[in-house]
Amino acid sequence: MARPKIALIGAGQIGGTLAHLAAIKELGDVVLFDIAEGTPQGKALDIAESGPVEGFDAALRGTNDYADIAGADVCIVTAGVPRKPGMSRDDLLGINLKVMKSVGEGIKAHAPDAFVICITNPLDAMVWALQQYSGLPAGKVVGMAGVLDAARFRHFLSLEFDVSMKDVTAFVLGGHGDTMVPLTRYSTVAGIPLPDLVEMGWTTQDKLDAIVQRTRDGGAEIVGLLKTGSAFYAPAASAIEMAEAYLKDQKRLLPCAAWVDGALGLNGIYVGVPTIIGAGGIERVVDINLRKDEQEMFDKSVDAVKGLVEACKGIDPALA
Ligand code: APR
Repeated sequence: MARPKIALIGAGQIGGTLAHLAAIKELGDVVLFDIAEGTPQGKALDIAESGPVEGFDAALRGTNDYADIAGADVCIVTAGVPRKPGMSRDDLLGINLKVMKSVGEGIKAHAPDAFVICITNPLDAMVWALQQYSGLPAGKVVGMAGVLDAARFRHFLSLEFDVSMKDVTAFVLGGHGDTMVPLTRYSTVAGIPLPDLVEMGWTTQDKLDAIVQRTRDGGAEIVGLLKTGSAFYAPAASAIEMAEAYLKDQKRLLPCAAWVDGALGLNGIYVGVPTIIGAGGIERVVDINLRKDEQEMFDKSVDAVKGLVEACKGIDPALA
């Protein structure tokens, strides 16, 4: 049986890291696409040359021609520009919306059966636009945000508690921006919810609040340190987890920016919610209960996403 085909649209910092991870994990053959000539070809060749040392079986190629993504099983989209220090993700809206148009049309023409994972920011609005421009079923177009935000939260919690990151689970819902909603009640150390750990004296409410805020600012913290560009290792790892769930029909329960129409009191919006990813794409949106305070935070985040979507419609009336 032929290996799955993974098309990476955008061969920058995240795209290159995605290609490396996909090859090392032997998820399939990789095609790196970018408008920059030489970049995808150079990265593909460099990673392929690590194959004999790493011992993986995967073919890698770089291209500037959308025709080469034909028949891709998975497309992961990072095309666009990242933010600079002082910029919010929302500042990227106008420029990256144009990029989503060309990427959506490329996927529609050459890989209409793919499971599409969008990483380009501002995430919730860009994944919506990508679905609109590509015309693919909403259940096959999803945004990567919650897995990354939860991974940041899990990392900070593991440092605070001095326990393995493997034993820390976390849930971050809502939009991938300043209003994201890290849910402490649904985050645990081996099943013990964070509020219980506060009661047990493992941490204080103040420290937990500070960790929640550091999670919300997690992307900006990296941008501030790097000074050029934004995070790429953890975003790439997070999208690979989602791609693997699809390719291996794992039925993983992962927080993702998915199309929600009915669940969580929402009708028709892309926003971070718990989802099940399997061979059918987004097979289910998990309709969890939120307490009043959690619901208020979630509603605020949903409103922020709605504002970005309206801004997109203002820029391109074809989306309205
Ligand atoms: N089509 C294809 N590729 C494009 C296009 C386009 N229309 N426009 C830009 N690109 C490519 C650039 O040539 C570059 O190689 O997208 C790549 C982006 O790579 P980086 O600048 O290194 O950005 P990266 O760190 O990978 O982040 C990409 O993901 O997390 C988000 O905010 C981040 O929106 C940004 C995206």
